[in-house]
Amino acid sequence: MSAKIPIEYEFIRLMKEWLPSPERMDLVNKVVQLVNECPRAKLLLPYLTMKQKNEMSWFDEPASTRYHGASIGGLARHSLGVYYMLKKLNLELPANRQLPEETLVICGLYHDLCKSGIYYPKHLQSKALAATPYETQDLYPMGHGEKSVVIINEILRPSNMCLTQTESILIRWHMGPFDRMYATYEAHLKAAYQFHLMLYIADHFCTMMEGDE
Ligand SMILES: [Fe+2]
Ligand SMILES: [Fe+2]
Repeated sequence: MSAKIPIEYEFIRLMKEWLPSPERMDLVNKVVQLVNECPRAKLLLPYLTMKQKNEMSWFDEPASTRYHGASIGGLARHSLGVYYMLKKLNLELPANRQLPEETLVICGLYHDLCKSGIYYPKHLQSKALAATPYETQDLYPMGHGEKSVVIINEILRPSNMCLTQTESILIRWHMGPFDRMYATYEAHLKAAYQFHLMLYIADHFCTMMEGDE
């Protein structure tokens, strides 16, 4: 169990500076535009704007502690990027196998919902701030892809609009071979879901392109 995270965070100052930024508004507008066309995706919008235990909303959070998207807004930028990449990959599939737009939006935008609320900026005094700006504390330790599936379904279930099996599979296994359990299920996944690595490919590509920020 990690030590209690101190409350004197630099991010409060950073957030105040960043909140009205054009970049944030651009991200918000793009996400709202996308989910507006997708009833299930729209149901998750309030979760994106809700302040988590780290005092940040999804729009403000980083995507990692020190690697890709390790800055304010990194998670939203990464998730949008994965949606765009997934959309491109989808066009490469035979027309009769292509995924519906709502599945692309849900998988792209929400595959990393598991990260929401787990990143805490390090204390200002820390000399390590530049190298590792964030540390993690996960108060809902359910895994990675599987945690995103659980959170999404918890939000969608009251409306009877849970994830489809394809969406659950794509999100659950979006870490592909980097997931320690992948080898155990690989043969079944290949047999049942030929394109189960689509989200992994989109996610991995974006992660590499984002690199260290
Ligand atoms: Fe992820
Ligand atoms: Fe991701």
